[in-house]
Amino acid sequence: MDGPESVYALITGASKGLGKALAFELAGRKINVLLISLPGEGLSYLCEQIKDEFGVKSDYLEADLTKKEDISRITGWVSANYKVDILINNAGVGGTMVFDKSGIDYLENIINLNIRALVLLTRQLLPGLRTHHNAYVLNVSSMLSFSPIGYKTIYPASKSFIYYFSRGLNEELKGSGISVSVLHPGPMRTNVDVRKRIRRQGFFGKMGLCSVEEVAATAVRRMFKRKPVIVPGFGNYINWFLLKALPDSIKTSVLSNKVRREIQTQQ
Ligand SMILES: NC(=O)c1ccc[n+]([C@@H]2O[C@H](COP(=O)([O-])OP(=O)(O)OC[C@H]3O[C@@H](n4cnc5c(N)ncnc54)[C@H](OP(=O)(O)O)[C@@H]3O)[C@@H](O)[C@H]2O)c1
Repeated sequence: MDGPESVYALITGASKGLGKALAFELAGRKINVLLISLPGEGLSYLCEQIKDEFGVKSDYLEADLTKKEDISRITGWVSANYKVDILINNAGVGGTMVFDKSGIDYLENIINLNIRALVLLTRQLLPGLRTHHNAYVLNVSSMLSFSPIGYKTIYPASKSFIYYFSRGLNEELKGSGISVSVLHPGPMRTNVDVRKRIRRQGFFGKMGLCSVEEVAATAVRRMFKRKPVIVPGFGNYINWFLLKALPDSIKTSVLSNKVRREIQTQQ
């Protein structure tokens, strides 16, 4: 077994929101953390704060995960300097847009970050994870992965991809000491866009609302129990049950109408 000082958890999208809460949750458990996010978002300050507050080791790398070369830069940096036994693929973006009006950059950003970066980073860090007796991958999906939704189209599809990818890989890695968990958060008040959307959606938007701290604590606890699917919060658990029970035609229509009204009130 590795000593507790020598191994790290790597968290993508760690500068704020859920990623930052996951970094704090792990550091609070005396786990060293490597933080990744876009340049200029205060990662160096956060890194120092974590070291001071929790007495663990921490380092950071600023990288754009939508760029293939940056993913290789991350894996090169890790293999040259660190041992990673926990990989948390948290960085992800969403959006609401009429598909006809969506630009190529908007679509590519979601696909490249939510799908390509998650797959490539996992693939490239897997040989390192395999060198540990126990290793963990936590992929952040969403409650919205459980239904197709018009006007969001690409986001729930990308999160559904994460669900299938994680379940498949977890099965493939059985017996290897590496487990792959997929986390399905409901709404959390993180960035400005999400806050506005939660407010606009009223009661519906607040169903299953949790703080990032609650979600991070549940996610980490269940990741260590090697749970393949993690749905945090009682409200989300009920929503999950409903979404699984309802036929696609009904839930897609209800959720898409809700989002369409949200777009119309914005115009
Ligand atoms: N908030 C919700 O209600 C909600 C619900 C369900 C699921 N989720 C999922 O939870 C995860 C975290 O969401 P959040 O709301 O905490 O997001 P957030 O507050 O917007 O934070 C996103 C993080 O990802 C980083 N990031 C964005 N684009 C990146 C890129 N191209 N390369 C590297 N890093 C990048 C951001 O870095 P910078 O700070 O540098 O921009 C930031 O650290 C996402 O996967 C999201 O889909 C969120």
